[in-house]
Amino acid sequence: MEHFMCPQNAYIMPDADAAGSAGDPACGDALTVFIKVRDNIIQEISYLVFGCCASIATSSMTSVLAKGKSLEEALNITEEDIIKALDGLPENKVHCSNLGVTALRKAINNYYKNQAAK
Ligand code: FES
Ligand code: FES
Repeated sequence: MEHFMCPQNAYIMPDADAAGSAGDPACGDALTVFIKVRDNIIQEISYLVFGCCASIATSSMTSVLAKGKSLEEALNITEEDIIKALDGLPENKVHCSNLGVTALRKAINNYYKNQAAK
């Protein structure tokens, strides 16, 4: 509830090192995650979300969990980690946590691609 009312890190990052998007065709909700990486650590993370209250709360919690983590640690964040950190989600809202995890993993993979292309 707290993360729905006062989402953390909700802003567009124009100078992000990478971004990743995920959408759920079933409900139409969509999320883009932006990351800034220094020395393999996620220094800054933000997102833009068009979605239900649970997708806003899970996006917020995804950003809180990923901030300050190494890229490898952030890649290992699971839906269960997010749900647990939020003290649970209603059964029909469990799928919403998938958006955060998917968009975060895409952003990290895009970061690796950007680095490889340099
Ligand atoms: Fe749609 Fe929360 S606003 S489920
Ligand atoms: Fe689909 Fe929440 S209802 S992400």
